[in-house]
Amino acid sequence: MKILIIGGNGTIGKTVTERFKADHDVIVAGRSSGEVRVDISSSESIEMMFAKIGKLDAIVNIAGDAKWDKFENLSEEDFYIGIRSKMMGQVNLVRIGKEYMNDGGSITLTTGILADDPVDMTTSAAMVNGAIQSFTKAVALEMDRGIRVNVVSADLVEDAFEKYKDYFPGNTPVSMRKVTDAYVKCVLGKINGEILRVRA
Ligand SMILES: NC(=O)c1ccc[n+]([C@@H]2O[C@H](COP(=O)([O-])OP(=O)(O)OC[C@H]3O[C@@H](n4cnc5c(N)ncnc54)[C@H](OP(=O)(O)O)[C@@H]3O)[C@@H](O)[C@H]2O)c1
Repeated sequence: MKILIIGGNGTIGKTVTERFKADHDVIVAGRSSGEVRVDISSSESIEMMFAKIGKLDAIVNIAGDAKWDKFENLSEEDFYIGIRSKMMGQVNLVRIGKEYMNDGGSITLTTGILADDPVDMTTSAAMVNGAIQSFTKAVALEMDRGIRVNVVSADLVEDAFEKYKDYFPGNTPVSMRKVTDAYVKCVLGKINGEILRVRA
């Protein structure tokens, strides 16, 4: 399978990339690293990436930002960071990317625990995660040529625990193995329109 992993050099992305590389032809894309450069918050950049790469069997996105801060500190413009990146970035990956999929291909998006269990300072991140989960269920109904769309929604992962643990008091991080398995299930399995909630 020819698989594009956007954010494939990130904390989650590098473990997922390693797993798929064992058996597949993997292309890693990122904002400042990877074989192909892309900024998912720009649809022009997404178009250019796909035009360069050509036809694919799977797209896996493990990238996207949102601003974390107290609700009272977040400006309208701050909300647009998450809307442009994690929300519309992923919508545009499906909107544009579906034209580059081989029949029966799959697109896997990434949200996270905040959609279901937000913590302090995550109004923006929780909001865009929830939007992508609803989008995924709806868009999966309209895909043709057997193209599937799913989302992996992990809890805080083991490899990011030190960085984020103070934001998630009492949280039990999820193993990298379990998170990676969810991406494998989306790409190699037959599921469609599902939100895989990966918890410890
Ligand atoms: N860490 C967790 O515990 C956890 C849990 C659940 C969900 N998530 C979600 O999973 C995703 C990845 O998390 P992570 O912890 O692996 O993040 P990370 O370590 O910061 O890695 C993110 C990767 O995405 C790329 N990237 C970021 N913004 C991009 C953009 N606009 N266009 C293209 N590439 C971009 C980065 O590339 P460059 O370095 O080249 O900029 C980097 O390779 C995020 O959406 C996060 O919210 C994370």
